Amino acid sequence: MAFKVLENRSLNGRDYLLKVKVDKELILKVKPGQFGMVQVRPSLQFDPLLRRPLGIFDLEGDSVSFLYRVYGRGTELLTRLTPKEEVEILMPLGSSIPEKGSRYLFIAGGIGIGGVFLGAKLFKEKGKEVLILYGERNRESLSALSFIEKYSIDSVIYTEDGSFGKKGLITQDLSLYKDWTWIACGPTPMLKAVKEIAEELSVECYLSLDRRMACGVGACLGCTVETVYGYKRCCVEGPIFKADEVIL
Ligand code: FES
Repeated sequence: MAFKVLENRSLNGRDYLLKVKVDKELILKVKPGQFGMVQVRPSLQFDPLLRRPLGIFDLEGDSVSFLYRVYGRGTELLTRLTPKEEVEILMPLGSSIPEKGSRYLFIAGGIGIGGVFLGAKLFKEKGKEVLILYGERNRESLSALSFIEKYSIDSVIYTEDGSFGKKGLITQDLSLYKDWTWIACGPTPMLKAVKEIAEELSVECYLSLDRRMACGVGACLGCTVETVYGYKRCCVEGPIFKADEVIL
């Protein structure tokens, strides 16, 4: 389906916010943790063919936003979209963050904040206790900081070089949060560390996984994730998986 672009702006030269106008009915269907398959090629061109999976970052009024990082040609093409143009997006797709707990710790490494921020915002609105741990290399890379502040979500910020917040890695203080439900999204080494600590501490933990995707709807089997129950499709059974069920 084609959506009108409301905004597509650089946050720090590397991360961008794409905001599109949607119907109210679509907003009601979106659950935290889900994603959209965004067509990055300009209209009337066929290259690149594949869409990019982007986590649904925020919902506001009649708009849906995606936070994305420029990694290659596809995402670079996406930065060229301008307001009033249209972009093809399939959404919402995939599994969502389970809502049974009352205290949620969102562990966001780098651009992984794009996959968990909406959960933190909506769960806070529902009266749950929410804390975001957000880690980046340095202060300039913290592209989602202004959104955390805008919605007054409690957070602890980590930078590897100590230029903002606590110096060090986002995983260093996790043992302080044994009584929370953890949701993590970020680079694989970080997810492995979170999974290991969660298992040691017997914490209920979910991971939001990122895989290359071709169809986004379960048809191509191009996004498989190894689990203790065999291979699962990241786009349909995921992207949210129970940490103790995935093999990373
Ligand atoms: S992207 Fe095709 S099955 Fe997941």
